[in-house]
Amino acid sequence: MTSTPKLRIAVLGSGTGSNARALCRACAENDLAYSVALIVSTSEKAGICDVAHEERVSLAILEPPNNGKPLADALEQVICEHAIDVLVLAGFMRLLPQKTIDVLHGRVLNIHPALLPDFGGQGMFGIHVHEAVIASGATETGATIHVVTGDYDKGEILAQSKIRLLPGESSTDLQARVKTIEHSLYPAAVDTYVRSLLPFLADSQKSGSKPVFS
Ligand code: GAR
Repeated sequence: MTSTPKLRIAVLGSGTGSNARALCRACAENDLAYSVALIVSTSEKAGICDVAHEERVSLAILEPPNNGKPLADALEQVICEHAIDVLVLAGFMRLLPQKTIDVLHGRVLNIHPALLPDFGGQGMFGIHVHEAVIASGATETGATIHVVTGDYDKGEILAQSKIRLLPGESSTDLQARVKTIEHSLYPAAVDTYVRSLLPFLADSQKSGSKPVFS
């Protein structure tokens, strides 16, 4: 009996790496349809680099100016070298180059620390999102997993989780509570997404044609 191979994901970010860690741990503790094959950081000082070492995952640091190579080219190289099937953004604060989305045929996901479509768009990242949510007087917030497109925070929403704001809560406390729900939401949403891709992989293997992914 043949078993379906796990798809290989790469996690891209430049933050503390708590979501990258949650994804690695979820793979170690559960029978998920994917493995974390690579962590990519756009800063050598970012905590996500430590996560790669601690979780024993390959690390690529693509810090500008990257020997003069555009980020899209540097990303394409590591995606090919590590045979990455799905790219997962976790704390990536810029617009991903369209070329990177195309290289992966759109198989790129992002986590956003609010309930999209609210509190998304350029400049809405990290603590700024939580500050805006509190300033708006909203009574609830949460986290969103969505497909990445060429626009900030605009792709199809795959999963959301909500929490209520607490009276007088600071933006840093809210950020910490949102991260807690992110850490269970993201691994599960990535698993559901990856499983939705598997029939296509199985079909291509059955017919003996070139695998869809790799
Ligand atoms: C997460 O809260 C994620 O939702 C957010 O950055 C944080 C990264 O934390 N992403 C954005 O704001 C994207 N617009 P982490 O490095 O601890 O995973």
